[in-house]
Amino acid sequence: MNESYSPTTPRPISTSSPNTMKIFMCFLIAFIIAQTIGTVLFCLYLHMKLDKLEQELSLQEDYLFLRRIQKCRKPEGVSSSLLDCKEIINRFQDLLVKDTEVSKDDAKFEMQKDDRQQPISAHLMGFKNSTKKVSVLQWQKTGYAPMSNLISYKGGTLKVEKEGLYYIYSQVSFCTKTAPGAPFTVFIYLNLPSESDRLLLKGQDTHSSSSVYCALQSTHLGGVFELRKGDMVFVNVTDSTQVNYDHGNTYFGMFKLY
Ligand SMILES: *[C@@H]1O[C@H](CO)[C@@H](O)[C@H](O)[C@H]1NC(C)=O
Ligand SMILES: *[C@@H]1O[C@H](CO)[C@@H](O)[C@H](O)[C@H]1NC(C)=O
Repeated sequence: MNESYSPTTPRPISTSSPNTMKIFMCFLIAFIIAQTIGTVLFCLYLHMKLDKLEQELSLQEDYLFLRRIQKCRKPEGVSSSLLDCKEIINRFQDLLVKDTEVSKDDAKFEMQKDDRQQPISAHLMGFKNSTKKVSVLQWQKTGYAPMSNLISYKGGTLKVEKEGLYYIYSQVSFCTKTAPGAPFTVFIYLNLPSESDRLLLKGQDTHSSSSVYCALQSTHLGGVFELRKGDMVFVNVTDSTQVNYDHGNTYFGMFKLY
């Protein structure tokens, strides 16, 4: 019986042993993988914790520094404590001085930037609004001369939003075929809100031309004037139909001196 059993017993062992081995190996591999992942996660956690600890430590150092300053400010603290109060207060004053210097520099820089960024000026080029005679010459903004928003333009008129000393200028180019004795005149007028218009500048040209073609000329005016907030300036001419609007010929502008 024993003899008949023994040859049969190794058989189930031999067939089940690779199975159990396989399961065991699977468990082992799963365990190793789990262990590896666990270790990596733990290391990450530790790293983060250490970072936080470091931050807290540095905060604590700052706090201690402040506490020391506080202690040093009390007169009895100076004598009783072992703290080197002179050194601590010196360090604190150093910090304060550096801080105010930085903010002062910042303020100066801001002011310079403000002054540089806002030149109050306007330069406009002539613009033929109508083929008929107009009482006020019309202008348009140009891409190459940005206009300050402290000077506004409307219907031929420049209006200042800030009082001060301004240089006002204009050039008008024109063609005359008129009979001699009738000058072509360019005017710059100041338009005050509640008064009649005041003449600022005037330029004249009496060009006699025997030719049938137009004789092209330019008149340039410019001067410094004290303007108040809301004052308006415009240009008019004796005969606007004679004005030449070729690029660069006719322009009007102003800038604030101070
Ligand atoms: C032309 O000028 C008149 C005033 O002289 C103004 O009312 C009109 O709006 C202007 N037209 C254009 C296109 O600027
Ligand atoms: C120019 O404008 C002034 C002020 O408004 C006015 O008195 C004058 O008659 C105008 N001149 C011409 C030629 O339109």
